[in-house]
Amino acid sequence: MTEQGNGTRVRRALITGITGQDGSFLAEFLLSRGYEVHGIVRRASTFNTERLDAIYADPHNHGVRLRLHYGDITDGAALRRTLDQAQPDEIYNLAAQSHVRVSFDQAEYTADAVATGTLRLLEAVRDYTAAGHAVRLYQAGSSEMYGAAAPPQNEKTAFYPRSPYAASKVAAHWYAVNYREAYKLFICNGILFNHESERRGETFVTRKITRGLARIKLGLQEKLYLGNLNARRDWGYAKDYVEAMWLMLQQAEPDDYVVATGESHSVSEFLDQASSCLGLDWKKHVKEDPRYLRPTEVDFLCGDASKARMKLGWAPKVSFEQLVKLMVEHDLELARQETTLTKAGHQVAQRGASQR
Ligand code: NAP
Ligand code: GDD
Repeated sequence: MTEQGNGTRVRRALITGITGQDGSFLAEFLLSRGYEVHGIVRRASTFNTERLDAIYADPHNHGVRLRLHYGDITDGAALRRTLDQAQPDEIYNLAAQSHVRVSFDQAEYTADAVATGTLRLLEAVRDYTAAGHAVRLYQAGSSEMYGAAAPPQNEKTAFYPRSPYAASKVAAHWYAVNYREAYKLFICNGILFNHESERRGETFVTRKITRGLARIKLGLQEKLYLGNLNARRDWGYAKDYVEAMWLMLQQAEPDDYVVATGESHSVSEFLDQASSCLGLDWKKHVKEDPRYLRPTEVDFLCGDASKARMKLGWAPKVSFEQLVKLMVEHDLELARQETTLTKAGHQVAQRGASQR
């Protein structure tokens, strides 16, 4: 913690994966609660901080409370250095190769980032606390860990992972439990079901659908290629879910929590909802493409978040219908901007979401 002018302490948080969907919402949430927020950013040849644009400020300015550090969850020395520099009271480990389909193509890297990356951070935190620092850690677990386990899934449901990503998240979960028990560290595993937003990466199915259908509506593309339309997911709004992460770290004791809406929909139901917002018949435009199928699929996720409701007082605020609507409206606006630019003779880069 650092001193404020009035003698009160400013809490410090460190977020790995701050440039992602959740990291950006969490950073905004923590800044709004007065935290100094530190984030780890990967070096890239193009800007990867787009989601932070609204809160980024020149670090030379006085009183800036967002600080970015270059690093990588696969680089233990840099993680330790960042802990020393940021001196956090709370750490949120969100960094991950988070795409399930891609984890079949990049299995070793996914395990290095998701499983061993968490272990690296836990080792660094172990030494950081041994040096006298008090710190609390949130580990981003996933409903993918339940995989083939029958719904509804809660904290007592046995894991049955179905991808390299999910198996790596299970390993990370148990590393976190072990470090909590072995070294008495304050660590919480959040087992979050799917959560989406207008900031969702464009290769995840919800955003691929809202981007694709909005562009089809305005005549910017003809077809949308998708994989398995029967899979069912429990989809919530990401902004609601980052608050649950924070709540876990404010409790008297560390524990593990499922965060979910308790409502499940198929991919085709998502298509129905998005199409009705746009006045489209998706069946005329959507084509199935086997390249988007997974070698092993997760068919049915539906979370039971009773424990989070009771102990954290957490409940989702945004319904499935509201979520789809807000994503469609956002992507329709993007498609309108694209139309305006195209009509004015500009070349608009195709981001190739339909290729992934
Ligand atoms: P996301 O948008 O894919 O963001 C992932 C973040 O991790 C990005 O900031 C990314 O950086 C960073 N990252 C990737 N590899 C890294 C590495 N080697 N070193 C450091 N940073 C790295 O994911 P999200 O949806 O925000 O999810 C956040 C976390 O929650 C992830 O751990 C995910 O697996 C987990 N989770 C997500 C959901 C969900 O439905 N969204 C549900 C359950 C669990 P770049 O921006 O540079 O790529
Ligand atoms: N991505 C994608 N692209 N998925 C498709 C497509 C497609 O073209 N067509 C159908 N799907 C199906 C997938 O097979 C899956 O059953 C479902 O849509 C959801 O896929 P994603 O949106 O990629 O999400 P996910 O459920 O695999 O993983 C997300 O949620 C997990 C929590 O359960 C990711 O955010 C993970 O990081 C997260 O842990």
